Amino acid sequence: MSKRVIVVGGGAAGMTAALAVANAGGKVTLITSAIGGGSSPWAQGGVAAAVGPDDSPDQHFLDTLACGAGLVDEAAARVLTEEAPARIADLLAAGVPFDREPDGSLALGLEGGHHRRRIIHAGGGATGWHIVRSLANVVLATPDISVLEGPSVTAIRTHAGRATGVELVWPDGIDGVLEGPVVLATGGCAGLYGRSTNPGTVNGGGIGLAWQAGAALADLEFVQFHPTALDLPAADMGHKALLLTEALRGEGGQLLDSRGRRFLAEGPLAHPLAELAPRDIVARAIHYARQDGPVYLSLRHVDPDHIRARFPNLVALLKPLGLDLATDLLPVAPAAHYVMGGVWSDLHGATTVPGLYVAGEVACTGVHGANRLASNSLLECLVFGRRAGLAALEGVQPDGFDDMLNRGVALEADPPLPADEGVSGAALGEILDHNLGVIRDEAGIVEALARLAEDGNGVVARRIALGAWLRRESRGAHFRVDYPEPVEAWRGRIIQQRGQPPHFAPVRAAVAAGERA
Ligand code: SIN
Repeated sequence: MSKRVIVVGGGAAGMTAALAVANAGGKVTLITSAIGGGSSPWAQGGVAAAVGPDDSPDQHFLDTLACGAGLVDEAAARVLTEEAPARIADLLAAGVPFDREPDGSLALGLEGGHHRRRIIHAGGGATGWHIVRSLANVVLATPDISVLEGPSVTAIRTHAGRATGVELVWPDGIDGVLEGPVVLATGGCAGLYGRSTNPGTVNGGGIGLAWQAGAALADLEFVQFHPTALDLPAADMGHKALLLTEALRGEGGQLLDSRGRRFLAEGPLAHPLAELAPRDIVARAIHYARQDGPVYLSLRHVDPDHIRARFPNLVALLKPLGLDLATDLLPVAPAAHYVMGGVWSDLHGATTVPGLYVAGEVACTGVHGANRLASNSLLECLVFGRRAGLAALEGVQPDGFDDMLNRGVALEADPPLPADEGVSGAALGEILDHNLGVIRDEAGIVEALARLAEDGNGVVARRIALGAWLRRESRGAHFRVDYPEPVEAWRGRIIQQRGQPPHFAPVRAAVAAGERA
């Protein structure tokens, strides 16, 4: 009888993991609130892959490294960039209708931090939606994948330190248990923030389940803020914050301050790559520029017919708000978008709990370092989703964690503050927005720690806050005004594990450089 793997999550990573298992001869039970749900269908820009004639996985690797601010796990980035073209071929075979040039070749967009056009997209800026729809069609037609749509997983079952299955509950209250190796593909936690491009359901649930099961977490202080989310009240938008894809800047979109100045091209906030600088830099520049008034994304100088044809979904989303994508000044501000940290994982999705695997945003392989390169997230779901599915089927053991820990040191525990009784979801979102946003400082982080309790969503929010408190430097998406520079001694991961003091471990590349020195 073939082995059964439990996959939790019905987005791009979960479905990719499930298909990998089924294609390798295994059986899958896929548990999800909704097949094709989560953040994946909200992804606009596309999938990065070196498929253009002027490009190479090496160049993609170098761009990934440069964006990650010294913290990228180089082995993970090699895997990501080298396996990317094969995973795009899988998506084409699954029927994803990627946009094409008139000659039939894949249309390649540009986004921040990329030195080549390598963003493969579908429906203009509806790439995630097309990918999950095509994958869902294949998943639902695969006899060896049973989809359970509706139940929530309430716990990872463990025995003698191993994951043995999951406990779940159906909406009508009936509960159950499933046994087998588990792949968590439940997404990240940016939806915990009040102002977020994610749905509120992307609230770190899977990270919390892994924490309760004893898995080590890494790098949760690194929350990425997308620079250009529409700056209108959430109630008007129908979203917490409506994403205006970075691909708009790839097509020439400019950022203007309240005086109409291109502040990323000139003045004290300027950067050599202007609007196409890495995301952390653009988000901080917008944050500071907004201190003098609203900031706008403008496409007024680009051919309006081109913009309307390239981004039909955004034209349609903005129209009911009375905005014309091509001709209006679009007010923008950063919004929580993605978390680079998550459940620590090796290159095959194995966590520190044998039998528990992770893939997609829930995982922290270190591939994004301190700041993810645009459009590497859907790619991560495809590359590491497949790897995690196969590893779960084969029972691969976690590799590298103990070595990493042995290279590191224990850190002090929480500041000695009583956490209060816990706050509601809305208040939690406000705390994260105000105290753990684009710009942080000691007082704000300590206040957050004092207000976030160790229960429900507070568990993951506290891990973000504790990581931010411990990391006394600024690097990538984590910027502290009281420690405004990167510090070489902090070039490593902060590991948090239930019942143990937090730990700091230098990244592999830093160790190698040290050995060479
Ligand atoms: C975007 O379209 O700007 C988001 C894509 C990403 O997060 O990589």
